[in-house]
Amino acid sequence: MSTIIRNGTIVTADLTYKADVLIENGRIAAIGDNLTGNTELDATGCYVMPGGIDPHTHLEMPFMGTYSTDDFESGTRSALSGGTTMVVDFALPSPGQGLLDALQMWDNKSGRAHCDYSYHMAVTWWGEQVFDEMKAVVDRGITSFKHFMAYKGALMVNDDELFASFRRVGDLGGIAMVHAENGDVVAELSARLLAEGNTGPEAHAYSRPPQVEGEATNRAIMVADMAGVPLYVVHVSCEDSHEAIRRARQQGKRVWGEPLIQHLTLDESEYFNADWDHAARRVMSPPFRNKQHQESLWNGLQAGSLSVVATDHCAFTTEQKRYGIGDFTKIPNGTGGLEDRMPMLWTEGVNTGRLTPNEFVAVTSTNIAKILNLYPKKGAVLVGSDADLVVWDPEAEKTITAGSQQSAIDYNVFEGKKVKGLPRYTITRGVVAVTEGKMDSREGHGEFVAREPRGTVNRALSQWKELTAPRPVERSGIPATGV
Ligand code: URP
Ligand code: ZN
Ligand code: ZN
Ligand code: ZN
Repeated sequence: MSTIIRNGTIVTADLTYKADVLIENGRIAAIGDNLTGNTELDATGCYVMPGGIDPHTHLEMPFMGTYSTDDFESGTRSALSGGTTMVVDFALPSPGQGLLDALQMWDNKSGRAHCDYSYHMAVTWWGEQVFDEMKAVVDRGITSFKHFMAYKGALMVNDDELFASFRRVGDLGGIAMVHAENGDVVAELSARLLAEGNTGPEAHAYSRPPQVEGEATNRAIMVADMAGVPLYVVHVSCEDSHEAIRRARQQGKRVWGEPLIQHLTLDESEYFNADWDHAARRVMSPPFRNKQHQESLWNGLQAGSLSVVATDHCAFTTEQKRYGIGDFTKIPNGTGGLEDRMPMLWTEGVNTGRLTPNEFVAVTSTNIAKILNLYPKKGAVLVGSDADLVVWDPEAEKTITAGSQQSAIDYNVFEGKKVKGLPRYTITRGVVAVTEGKMDSREGHGEFVAREPRGTVNRALSQWKELTAPRPVERSGIPATGV
């Protein structure tokens, strides 16, 4: 079986050119003219791009007394519908639980995936078992380790644990990741707000000002530098955090920042909505920010100081959000976005002239494929690459509405947004899963993608750290003692 994508314009992170693409056995077999195949997909007027990779999802995750509602089935179906062909989900051990145990739980869930997936591992506590099992996790092809500097009393790790874990990740040739918010300060501010009668969802935003994020981001960067490990900062929402990342990168530190499509396009005014449900549905950490912070994130994508646009897809129903009526700290944190990331970023990024189509591909797919050592299996349109592709119609339009989404929840934080730029076809390992909004994906089609440690950035960084490591000074003589 072979498929040919005809009459399209290939758009990658660095090239734009007209050519047809031949797909065989789930991979790209040829790129050029006069190719023939069994079936044809018409890409006239469309861009043929690497499928999106969303490196930040929480599918069916136990969190804040419940489970996120989109699981690997509905979550990956949502992804494909919006042109995303791979997700990287966080395997999350509860404090005290072994990493391999958590991995088993995630393996039990992920068999339902419609598209390919990988995992990051979360380090939610520290001890010999965690230290030991990290090696086994890397051997399984999971090379990125996430640390929560927030969620005090639950998932948060302290600085000594952070430093120990970062060093271990560095030694194993992996990448350290952080949710950067000062959890101690958030806990104090939350308690004070509640005591003062600030119980509504707007208090969630008051409890997590940009300073808690800026401080933690800067701390994580310095700790990672001392530990000699590359650092990936998830959900960068504000200038305070972006500024720390920008400065670090200018100093040659190996740091990447990931803004979310939500923070790029929605702002803090959502929390002041008179409708409690409306505001609570948008409670996530970090919270949405003001327009200046939003501009900073867009500038970062343009300048290259921010590298990846993700979703942090962690979807809770309205009923679940209502656990927090009367106490904002009990509102499950998280929002959806998997289905909308690509169309929203195209609409607000490419259609406004903030991003070129090539930059769009870079921040939705290629950059993260390189960071996670998945490239060019994923994130590329090259002979031999997986045929995870999106045939993108820049003229197709729709209005986002929960009524027609794939996600299992009952609302959409982008409700009513008009988007222009949608998949004509989404192709997962050579199989057409979506045709102009019509789903034809298959549960269980998705495969786990293992990753190798010690990518090029790891090798360069450890070489540099080795060269500049503390060394004893060689001296010709030692003065006699006890003179
Ligand atoms: O509010 C959020 N972001 N929920 C998901 C868990 C996390 O912190 O990433
Ligand atoms: Zn987080
Ligand atoms: Zn509303
Ligand atoms: Zn997250």
